[in-house]
Parts: sequence; structure tokens; C-alpha cells
Amino acid sequence: MRLEVKGLSFSYNSVPALRGVTFSVQSGEVLGIVGPNGSGKSTLLRCLAKALKPRLGTIILDGRNLATLRGREVGRRLGYVPPPGSGQAFPCTVLEAVLQGRRPRLTWGVGPRDLEVAARALACLGLIELAERQLNELSSGQRQKVFIARALAQEPEVFLLDEPTATLDIRYQLEAMALIRGLATEKGRVVVAVLHDLNLAGRFADRLLLLHQGEIFAAGSAKAVLTPENLRAVYGVEAVVTEGPWGVQVTAVAPVGGFGAVEEAAVCAVGRG
Ligand SMILES: Nc1ncnc2c1ncn2[C@@H]1O[C@H](COP(=O)(O)OP(=O)(O)OP(=O)(O)O)[C@@H](O)[C@H]1O
Ligand SMILES: [Mg+2]
Repeated sequence: MRLEVKGLSFSYNSVPALRGVTFSVQSGEVLGIVGPNGSGKSTLLRCLAKALKPRLGTIILDGRNLATLRGREVGRRLGYVPPPGSGQAFPCTVLEAVLQGRRPRLTWGVGPRDLEVAARALACLGLIELAERQLNELSSGQRQKVFIARALAQEPEVFLLDEPTATLDIRYQLEAMALIRGLATEKGRVVVAVLHDLNLAGRFADRLLLLHQGEIFAAGSAKAVLTPENLRAVYGVEAVVTEGPWGVQVTAVAPVGGFGAVEEAAVCAVGRG
């Protein structure tokens, strides 16, 4: 399985959000997408999930153009986990939400194998005890785990994960990233994950794409991408980058130019004294 993206461009009402994005990722790989707020990460993932139609460029899944794939086939091939806060809010239980992941595979309704796969997905995320709870009564981190479990139950070839760990506590961040890593390494899936945590990205992804204003600013290993120069240019931060036993570690020290401008803005917002 190989996912190839060539010259992808997308605009929201003629305002460009992605320009000439080209990369490929194959079975067994975790590709981390990093970049500042508004740099186009979610837009890219939604184009890959066929939720948005690119203005230019092609997305090729195992030699087939994504544009030619129909709904159920897209669902069998691509598992999309939306960013926190954007998932559906309609009333259903956790188990029902996870079973929705089986929809592209259902023929005559939910069968024993669907229940077994859903139960395994719930167990993977530590959700068994929450199975009968209402989705909209969960904490945001619990809900995020449900969306990951739903994608697991879908058994897709490609996982597209938008900030899968953003609302998880530090233990579940590690567990979720190890699970995601295992999907690639052990199950041979393709994983594309948007991550704001550069340390998790550097540790668990094979390669990173650093987006800046809708374009790829840098691509490659964490060591090559997460340099102080790149972090200054793209995020506008002075950062210290070290390499340790758990990979590249980034500590953002201060905004470029210091905290003065931030303090000014705070004074502006709440007044002096
Ligand atoms: N529905 C929309 N309509 C118009 N513009 C949008 C829409 N969604 C996103 N944008 C704009 O497109 C650009 C890219 O947004 P996108 O959500 O892809 O960024 P992101 O990298 O995921 O950011 P974040 O880290 O904040 O999630 C931004 O300038 C954003 O304001
Ligand atoms: Mg986003």
C-alpha cells in the first residue's frame, strides 16, 4: 500500500490553504504532519480523507486515484479521526459510535465479527467500562479515544489522525502513540498523523512534514526537520533542540523577539494595573 500526493492545492473560497503539496507514504510508515496553527494540516488530512476536493493535484492510493473511489470503498480504505472538538455530537452510546466504524463493511447488519472487532477496539483504548455510556456525556479525552477506537474498528489500510493525542493525559498519549506506531510496524498500515507535540512526533513518526502557510517547508527525519532554524522560521520561537534516548527533544524557550510583544498585548486586552 502506498499513498501518493502530487501537487495538491486547495482553497477555501479562493483563499489558498494548500499549495503544491507533494509527498508519499507507504505501508509500515508513520508520517507526522507538524506546523503552526492555520498552516493547513487539517485541510491536508481532510483532502486525504476525501472530505474536501482539491483544486489541483492528485491523491493516489495503491495506484488508484482517490477521486474515482466510491463512498464505501473510501471507508474501507481510509480511517479518519477528526480533531478534538469537531466530532459528531448526536446521541449514541460509545459502543454504537465504535460500531459506526464497521459501516463500510456491513452487508446485512451488525454480525458477530463486527461486535468482536468493536470490542477489541474498545479494549485497546481502555473503553470497555464506558461502552454503554452516552458519547456526549464523556470527557473530551474519553471522546477522543472513542474516535480512535472507531477508526480501529474500521480496519482501514490508511489511518488519517488529526491531533489524536491532543486531549489525552501523558500516559494515554504514550499508549495511543505506541498503538499508532504498532498499526504501522506490526500491521503494515499507513499512518498519517497531525501532531502538535513535536516531541511525540519526533519520537514516534518515521518522517515529518513541516507545513508553513500551506506549503511543505521541510520534510525528512525529526533531526533534519526540527532544527532551531526551522522552528524559528515557521513557529517564530527560539527553541533548544537536543537528542536523547527518546529521540529529538524540543523545548520552546521564547517567542522570537522575547515576551515583550505578548506582555504588551495582555496590557492592551486587560489594561494596566
Ligand atoms: N471551513 C473553512 N473556511 C474557510 N477557511 C478555512 C476553513 N477551515 C480552515 N480555513 C483556513 O485555512 C487555513 C488552514 O486551516 P487548517 O485548519 O488546515 O489549519 P491547521 O494547520 O490544521 O491549524 P490548527 O493547528 O489550528 O488546527 C487557515 O488559514 C484557516 O483559517
Ligand atoms: Mg487543525
